[in-house]
Amino acid sequence: MISKNSPIGVFDSGVGGISVLRILRHDMPNENFVFFGDSINAPYGEKSDERIKEMCDDNIRFLFKKDAKAIVIACNTATSAAATFLREKYPDTIIVAMEPAVKPAVDKSESEHPKVLVLATKSTIHGERLHHLIGRFSENADIYPVAAPGIVPLVESGKEDSEELLQYLKELLNPFRRKEDGGEGNPVDSVVLGCTHFPFVTGKIKEALGYEVTFYDGAYGTSRETKRRLKEAGLLTDSTEPGKIELYSTAEGDNPTALEKRLLELPFKYEP
Ligand code: DGL
Repeated sequence: MISKNSPIGVFDSGVGGISVLRILRHDMPNENFVFFGDSINAPYGEKSDERIKEMCDDNIRFLFKKDAKAIVIACNTATSAAATFLREKYPDTIIVAMEPAVKPAVDKSESEHPKVLVLATKSTIHGERLHHLIGRFSENADIYPVAAPGIVPLVESGKEDSEELLQYLKELLNPFRRKEDGGEGNPVDSVVLGCTHFPFVTGKIKEALGYEVTFYDGAYGTSRETKRRLKEAGLLTDSTEPGKIELYSTAEGDNPTALEKRLLELPFKYEP
């Protein structure tokens, strides 16, 4: 039986969802959380929608066994491919999903017609959801959706600080690098982090671009929405103590440690 003090279930294809969990924890410090990272099946972004739905269903069922009172899909790819399916399958469950932060990137920009780079997995970039979202804002901004499939495997294997990642990003982002840096000379104002693995590599994205940009992370909106939905359902915890966090991963070996490392040790600035 779920109650106010049951945990909030959070899942991702792997360690990326930790970038969402740390914001959820900041916004709701007394809540308990149970996190599931399906690292063995990452990257989701290269798989078919049907396969992503199956994996997400398995993840949710795991979280139900842990008595999750609500589910946060801490993965843009899973949201794009499976959120509608999951909400139809589990209509009585609060299921909160991610949305790439295109709206804040356009609304908060100081420039009249901002240039916005949206980085995400292949699956998200080619999905209908993002297509519609971009369509809503394309009159007021130049929006460039770019699939960055090379980032997730490197973040999953702990190589977010590597030269390999930097070289990959320089090549991928060449159209947006300045001419004087050897790029094609179309610099952007902001970067939307359309995959939850990407907040771990903002330093490298900036380095590859070679200039300052503003990053937008959809996890802040997801966290606000989670709190709102729980409040509306009368399911916010009444505990006055800091909540507990349980981390689970399908990866073998040291991956739970990798989750913990990202949650507890990586420097994190709360910037809504
Ligand atoms: N972290 C996920 C996302 O937000 C997916 C990464 C992957 O497994 O491809 O899109």
